[in-house]
Amino acid sequence: MSRNILIVAGDGIGPEVMGEVERVIAWFNENRGFDGVVENELVGGSCYDAHGVAVTDETVEKAKAADAVMLGAVGGPKWDDVPFEVRPEAGLLRLRKDLGLFANLRPAICFPALAEASSLKTELVQGLDIMIVRELTGGVYFGEPKGIDDLPNGERRGYDMQVYDTHEIQRIGRVAFDLAKKRDNRVMSVEKRNVMQSGLFWYQEMVKLGAEEFPDVKLEHMLADNCGMQLVKNPKQFDVIVTDNLFGDMLSDVAAMLTGSLGMLPSASLGAKDENGKACAMYEPVHGSAPDISGQGLANPIATVLSFAMALRYTFDLGADADLLEGAVEDVLADGYRTGDIMQPGKKQVGTVEMGDAILTALTKRTA
Ligand code: IPM
Ligand code: MG
Repeated sequence: MSRNILIVAGDGIGPEVMGEVERVIAWFNENRGFDGVVENELVGGSCYDAHGVAVTDETVEKAKAADAVMLGAVGGPKWDDVPFEVRPEAGLLRLRKDLGLFANLRPAICFPALAEASSLKTELVQGLDIMIVRELTGGVYFGEPKGIDDLPNGERRGYDMQVYDTHEIQRIGRVAFDLAKKRDNRVMSVEKRNVMQSGLFWYQEMVKLGAEEFPDVKLEHMLADNCGMQLVKNPKQFDVIVTDNLFGDMLSDVAAMLTGSLGMLPSASLGAKDENGKACAMYEPVHGSAPDISGQGLANPIATVLSFAMALRYTFDLGADADLLEGAVEDVLADGYRTGDIMQPGKKQVGTVEMGDAILTALTKRTA
């Protein structure tokens, strides 16, 4: 049975880094019997330019039907002035919402070869391995009402609604607890229960879920501002962090930067299994479209390649192939290959395609 992968490369460096993933998929087809069939569609600004919307209905349907979606990046200054509803990010948000991708897994791993590239002291990040589990289809990102209104007094009012229902907290909580069981068995739930009712509610639901369904997993709680501080002070104290959409957005950027480069970090966005056992899934690098370097062949494809490794692990249940690909990435880093964003003195600076070449060579070596 072939495996259907929809690639929506998006804007900026998206198509460049995704080109390397296509080569990696071809390698797995040739050498590991992966049988991946790739189709490409537009999303973001490039889709707006072609169709006047950030993602088309047809692409959303294809994404629902695919076994996995690989997304590059969306956005760029070119589309700063397009209407809010059709801005590039709207395409990404619609895919998340329509595919029901409520669970966003953002690992923050420090590769040994890159510990010195972190903005923190090497000993603080060496060996870092955190999993941030971000709720992705609720909270203030999607809560209603939201808008900008004219007030009778001549002022205007802007507002968004932070809201979570029981089942939304339970299902993201279960993902976090299940992941923790396969790791260090610790979950840190993060909210602002000292200020927000929705935060207090999040806390209460997590306490209940932990006690009822996961009594053997250690559950702790932290206020979101303190979590930001602790991530910078002593990041290795964390195992799994579970938090809402907005705090997860911010804290995952902080955690990403600790690891030496945003250009290294993958993510998985997963939905619930349907009655046939199929779950929608989308894999994307944590970094953005990097308009400043796009089109120059300089972008680091590693985050996107590692996102495909997550697809191998979580959608296709090919853990050994995921390990192989992650190992190949470690090999090229150990061999001194660096794109500009992670360049260090004495290392070999390469471009996007050369980095892809090195990864393919490392794959072949590992399987020889
Ligand atoms: C992310 C991004 C998106 C988000 C943007 C591009 C809409 O920052 O995936 O973290 O805010 O979720
Ligand atoms: Mg973000």
